[in-house]
Amino acid sequence: MPNAFPDAATLRTVLDLASWAPSAQNAQPWHWLVDSDGLHLDADWDRRLGDTPADRSDVLLSCGAVLHHCAVALAAAGWHPRIRRFPDGGAGRLASFELIESSPVAASVELASAIPRRRSDRREYGESALAPATLELLLIRAARLGVQMSVVPKDRWVRLGEGRIELSYGPVGDDQPPPSGPGDGVLLVLATEADDDRSRLRAGEATSDLLLSATALDLASCPLTEPLRDARARLALACDVFDGEAHPQVLVRVGPAIVGAPELPPGPRRPVAATTTWT
Ligand SMILES: Cc1cc2nc3c(=O)[nH]c(=O)nc-3n(C[C@H](O)[C@H](O)[C@H](O)COP(=O)(O)O)c2cc1C
Repeated sequence: MPNAFPDAATLRTVLDLASWAPSAQNAQPWHWLVDSDGLHLDADWDRRLGDTPADRSDVLLSCGAVLHHCAVALAAAGWHPRIRRFPDGGAGRLASFELIESSPVAASVELASAIPRRRSDRREYGESALAPATLELLLIRAARLGVQMSVVPKDRWVRLGEGRIELSYGPVGDDQPPPSGPGDGVLLVLATEADDDRSRLRAGEATSDLLLSATALDLASCPLTEPLRDARARLALACDVFDGEAHPQVLVRVGPAIVGAPELPPGPRRPVAATTTWT
């Protein structure tokens, strides 16, 4: 174990908080290893939902989300995390933490306290618009993680039943779906310069940062990758919003929750004991 390292009880609390990270279809495709070198994150490929590249991408994005949740929880517990991504040069390990004992960081405490409150909210949102300063803040936070963020134009998407989103980049014609309405919120897209595993892990981290920031600002949110499985729509979105210079990885719908809307119950999570090997 490194000289300074959180005790087992603190680590368990941190990993328990991190387990509330969002993941595609709540698959929670990650595994933690605590050994004499510290804390490490691996993907659990057995929990991948299918065999397509999009399913692989969902695993990496979800692992990025839990990595960021864990980093936030560690910082709030007084352990400043330095993350080494792909520390074995791509042989399989996604990340290892180097930890330095320090005072809890206020920004991390705020994000950590948002973790238990965050939900994927697929409902209608309130009608008020997002303040430009809020969008600017989210954009800056994504950029700090090396991820680009932009707003998907209102006439390019529509919210269907159960919070599903359809991107409308088909040929112009009579059968185009109507543009999204005021209660649909804003659709943000996170994109990366490269389209590789490293970028997807980063995009997952940025997704977590965006969702927790939104929750801390009392905004409802929902991450989505299902609409990006349509390769043509994904490419058209990249051209429309990023001039073809970045690869869309995740969509996030954000907006004010409807006043008085009932709280959503938390989804089930695997216990820390099932996702962690202690050696
Ligand atoms: C990478 C990723 C992709 C996701 N894609 C979708 C999606 O396409 N549609 C959707 O409704 N939810 C999507 N979600 C949200 C998950 O379904 C949700 O995180 C999971 O069910 C756990 O629920 P919670 O976020 O409320 O804790 C996605 C989440 C992640 C991290």
